[in-house]
Amino acid sequence: MNTFKQRILTLAMLAVASAPALSQSPTVPMPVPDEASIPKGPMGDAIKRGKALLTDTHKQLPKNVGNGLNCTSCHLNAGTTAHASPWVGLVGAFPEYRSRSGKVISLQERINDCFQRSMNGKPLAFDSAEMNAIMAYMKWLSTGVPTGTNVAGRGFEKIDTSLTPDPVHGKTIYGAQCASCHGAEGQGTKNPQGGYIFPPVWGKDSFNVGAGMARMYTAAAFVKHNMPLGQGGTLSAQDAVDVAAYFTQQPRPDYAAKAKDWPKGDRPKDAR
Ligand code: HEC
Ligand code: HEC
Repeated sequence: MNTFKQRILTLAMLAVASAPALSQSPTVPMPVPDEASIPKGPMGDAIKRGKALLTDTHKQLPKNVGNGLNCTSCHLNAGTTAHASPWVGLVGAFPEYRSRSGKVISLQERINDCFQRSMNGKPLAFDSAEMNAIMAYMKWLSTGVPTGTNVAGRGFEKIDTSLTPDPVHGKTIYGAQCASCHGAEGQGTKNPQGGYIFPPVWGKDSFNVGAGMARMYTAAAFVKHNMPLGQGGTLSAQDAVDVAAYFTQQPRPDYAAKAKDWPKGDRPKDAR
């Protein structure tokens, strides 16, 4: 990691630490275990391998990743940031009913949903060493969270979905507050050593149209709390909706199987 990125990540962590506690869906506080608690031996090796796969996904799993992202491009700080869809506590939250799937799904299926949509790639076999390593990391992250509870900050901060988007204003915000890192054409900033320093937000190396982040209000909720990186919480809800309306509608890979989403007819209005 270069020093600039290191610095903004530190800033981002400070911003998160000082954010006010939100009270929408929390049931238990979100503990993040200390790295020193990773055991020695095969289990510890699997936990560390899982973390490496999730933070360096594009490079380490080229057969499963079809774009320029890592899992942690969205699940910030290795899945430990509240309101950036943290992975803490998920091992005791799944299996769970998901309206997009129209059925109860396992955590492995949810992980593969992100491989196929957010990463525009291919699922991992449930019994693969890679899936088990990812599960081992998420289990370790869930240490101390009671089964059947949600941690505070699970998912994203709620956003008012009655706000009417103004993508023209969103384009102005994008140019002023996002393009310096994510590029004027949403193409991101490449790392000369491979991958991206700042990930793309549209185009061929971005998430596909079936991804949660392609939904305007989901993207707005993520952006409002987490972007610009290190300055999360500075955009108004309206500005976050406007900028999300702009970048989510830009060209990105298709996802043919999206036609089968929300089989029970409860498709949200911002689904693409
Ligand atoms: C482009 C952003 C993005 C990337 C990259 C991404 N995800 Fe996600 N992920 C999301 C969004 C958005 C959601 C929530 C979607 C929703 O509920 O509408 C989510 C949800 C999840 C959940 C469920 C969280 C919960 O509280 O139920 C898991 C587990 C998950 N992702 C794992 C992964 C893994 C593993 C990877 C890498 C293979 C990954 N994600 C890559 C955006 C992303
Ligand atoms: C200082 C540089 C910087 C600025 C400015 C910035 N971002 Fe980001 N953004 C990042 C980084 C870095 C990540 C990935 C985090 C990681 O890898 O740890 C990210 C992740 C994202 C993601 C999820 C990953 C992806 O590529 O799809 C979205 C969406 C996003 N930013 C949107 C925005 C929007 C909208 C703005 C403007 C309001 C913005 N960002 C401003 C640096 C920045």
